[in-house]
Amino acid sequence: MEGGLEVGDVRVEVRHLDTSDLTSVRKFAKRILEDERSLHVLINNAGMMGCPKREVTQDGLELTMATNYYGHFLLTNLLLGLMKKSSPGRIIALTSSDHSYVNKLNPDSLNFEREHYSSRTAYGQTSLCNILFSVELASKLEGTGVTANSVHPGCVHTEFFYKGKVTLFSWICRKLYLLMGKDVQLGAQPTIYLAVSQEVEDVSGQYFVDCQVAKTSELARQKKLAKQVWEATEVDVKLQPEEKHY
Ligand SMILES: NC(=O)c1ccc[n+]([C@@H]2O[C@H](COP(=O)([O-])OP(=O)(O)OC[C@H]3O[C@@H](n4cnc5c(N)ncnc54)[C@H](OP(=O)(O)O)[C@@H]3O)[C@@H](O)[C@H]2O)c1
Repeated sequence: MEGGLEVGDVRVEVRHLDTSDLTSVRKFAKRILEDERSLHVLINNAGMMGCPKREVTQDGLELTMATNYYGHFLLTNLLLGLMKKSSPGRIIALTSSDHSYVNKLNPDSLNFEREHYSSRTAYGQTSLCNILFSVELASKLEGTGVTANSVHPGCVHTEFFYKGKVTLFSWICRKLYLLMGKDVQLGAQPTIYLAVSQEVEDVSGQYFVDCQVAKTSELARQKKLAKQVWEATEVDVKLQPEEKHY
């Protein structure tokens, strides 16, 4: 569904974007750059848990990584020039506490070419990559007035475990999240807080849980790894010189 709609006093434009498809990301960004004169908030929210078996997109990327991480990486880079020009701005990456399940990350094999694949490992790795991406982005954006942070929204009873193939794990999660998860209104609050609160207008490069800066896993704190992953990702998404705005 594309088009415009009025929500109260606000006009909302709906545009198609498939974050797992780099062509779709470039097309979406091109239209934004043509139509918009300023951009202050970018929330990289799209996410899914991959299939039991490794799947590869037409760009040669593992599907979970493409959807949750690569698409956001490319989109952010393509929109960065506009965000810097219309500073102040905030870039928010949805991530997960599952990043801490990952105990090794090989920047040369981000698509599980050589590493063991499972849907949980792939999801955890996308969460870790999104934190590392925010850390490196924050350092590249220092002094520009544009901040970059990541957020774990908590356990929220959304559509997340109702999509794709039903596995024992997803079935258990559905029941647990139904009983114990936050509702979607409450689950959106940590992201909204990062997008609008004055308390965090100068905070950058941090990971948030419950609207507070939280500690990440040891791997997610490695600045050298963040740089290596950024460089490998630029190659994987074929980022062109004219697409670099940092
Ligand atoms: N729910 C939780 O407890 C929890 C915990 C930690 C982190 N998170 C993160 O929070 C974010 C939001 O998830 P959610 O819980 O709200 O789940 P959700 O209800 O399933 O929402 C996920 C959103 O991502 C979109 N999406 C999926 N694949 C996409 C693609 N290829 N291109 C564009 N959009 C795509 C979905 O669009 P469609 O509806 O069109 O498929 C949907 O709007 C995700 O990044 C997730 O990893 C959630």
